[in-house]
Amino acid sequence: MKAIVRGASGSPELRNVAAPVPAENEVLVRVHASSLNDYDLFILGRPPLPARMLGTFLRAVSASAPPRVRIGGSDVAGSVVAVGSRVESFRPGDAVFGDVSSFGFGGFGAFAEYVCAPQAALLPKPAGMTFEQAAALPQAGALAMQGLHAGGPLRSGQKILINGAGGGVGTIGVQVAKLQGVEVTGVDRASKHKMMRSIGFDRVIDYQQEDFTKSGKRYDLILDTKSNRSLFAYLRALTPGGTYVTVGGQTATLFRMLILGGLIRLLTGKRIVVIKLKQNAFLSDLKECFEAGHLAPVIDGPYKLSDWQDAFRHFSAANQEGKVILTMV
Ligand SMILES: NC(=O)c1ccc[n+]([C@@H]2O[C@H](COP(=O)([O-])OP(=O)(O)OC[C@H]3O[C@@H](n4cnc5c(N)ncnc54)[C@H](OP(=O)(O)O)[C@@H]3O)[C@@H](O)[C@H]2O)c1
Repeated sequence: MKAIVRGASGSPELRNVAAPVPAENEVLVRVHASSLNDYDLFILGRPPLPARMLGTFLRAVSASAPPRVRIGGSDVAGSVVAVGSRVESFRPGDAVFGDVSSFGFGGFGAFAEYVCAPQAALLPKPAGMTFEQAAALPQAGALAMQGLHAGGPLRSGQKILINGAGGGVGTIGVQVAKLQGVEVTGVDRASKHKMMRSIGFDRVIDYQQEDFTKSGKRYDLILDTKSNRSLFAYLRALTPGGTYVTVGGQTATLFRMLILGGLIRLLTGKRIVVIKLKQNAFLSDLKECFEAGHLAPVIDGPYKLSDWQDAFRHFSAANQEGKVILTMV
């Protein structure tokens, strides 16, 4: 089968590799669509030195183990073609979707014509949801939902700001947040504002023109996908008792937040939360939102597997609106 793998030089390449075979609790899925996430680019890139040393050590002590082919791809939407002997939830022909990433020795693999995944990583895809829409939801949706829940239940009238709002997390997050009667401001570049308003943002801010942390406006919840400002700038933009929650951004800033979060809570009453992705968290809630007509994933593309380099370039330049989708059929 064709798959996007980590090449010998530590950059992604399209290659022919052996199709996977499902273990007893796994499902073999014919992949129709996947979407791009930072995790996938990380997995397909040159690993950091400690991970390379560990890999060399493991290969040295287990001489029989062949070098592993690392295939990227977290989000999958496709059709079941075979199931392991202990799989009870799915049958061949079922349409499924989910996030198959994990940082164990298995996981990922959705940038391929076939992928194996544990049955617990998949949900039945609703008939009215396209494979492209289904591939857009799992990872970005989980991060958005984990982030929106981090400050407790949303309450009508609250003011929320999403920083980096025109990407995967923001475009899902706003649609779910609006169901609770909150006011949502989105920060992203001006070219994305029309799309952002169309999916529910009440206010939009161009980060190239305005620093939202200096405007004097305060928010009950800030959901950040970029974490590119100082911790104190974020605290300034929170209401008393407000919550700042980040799903990603500059590593040094995230470390500072992890270390200082408890002390800040004690001193100011404001909460700082760094989210760790829980694969497929809230996916059934998102599915219900979609089925009720409250959620329409924003699709960028789709790109065919043969055009994967264009998709990767587009994603790496962060020009995308919503989720960049890759289709395998
Ligand atoms: N916590 C975890 O366990 C975990 C797991 C997986 C992924 N992640 C992280 O979660 C995040 C996923 O977010 P996502 O999928 O929504 O990302 P995304 O699709 O890349 O969207 C980010 C948006 O931010 C915009 N942006 C760029 N610079 C900005 C700035 N200075 N101010 C405001 N907006 C700016 C980008 O637009 P332009 O660049 O075009 O302006 C883009 O629209 C990533 O940071 C990822 O690394 C975390």
